[in-house]
Amino acid sequence: MPTETKFDSPPETQQSRRAARIAARDAIIRSAPKLHTVIKYPHPTLLKPSALVTEFTPELAQFVEEMFDSMYAAEGIGLAAPQIDVSQQITVIDISFLERPEDKLVLINPVVIDRRGKQLEEEGCLSLPEIREKIQRDAWVKVRAQNVKGEFFEVEGEELLARAMLHEIDHLNGILFIDRLSRLKRDLVLRRIRKLQKNGEW
Ligand code: CO
Repeated sequence: MPTETKFDSPPETQQSRRAARIAARDAIIRSAPKLHTVIKYPHPTLLKPSALVTEFTPELAQFVEEMFDSMYAAEGIGLAAPQIDVSQQITVIDISFLERPEDKLVLINPVVIDRRGKQLEEEGCLSLPEIREKIQRDAWVKVRAQNVKGEFFEVEGEELLARAMLHEIDHLNGILFIDRLSRLKRDLVLRRIRKLQKNGEW
């Protein structure tokens, strides 16, 4: 049944699940101590590689919580720090959008260390609202990263989780999903964005 995969926007689901998601989002908007605004293409922070995290302080842990809140507030299932104008290698992911607590994932300084297969699904991005295109990604990946304490760990994911990790890791390297389109398709998307900008809709 689910036909689309949208990043950082979640896959479209039944009405009831969407209603539950909106209620969860609204509760977070009401209670979050701090929410960060998501910046849009072509903000320069989105277009450059971000810095490695070297200090694993309580402030970092707090910032990660703010990232989760900001992601849920924007109805996203993934958010990379450059998207809130912080050029550091930090990303948060929750492909279940609060339905399964174990799905909450923090990747600091992540690196893809193994990959297998291919998948072709539609993606979107909080920094490119309304743009959706089919993007080829690895079907399965293994990622090595650090947690908020600086401890190294490995995480494997397939399908939606693989796609989410790859999309967010791309952000940390200054790459947007439209950069993975053919030149022709990318040009068409950029033209559409310029038109939206001109009409004050971007
Ligand atoms: Co994105």
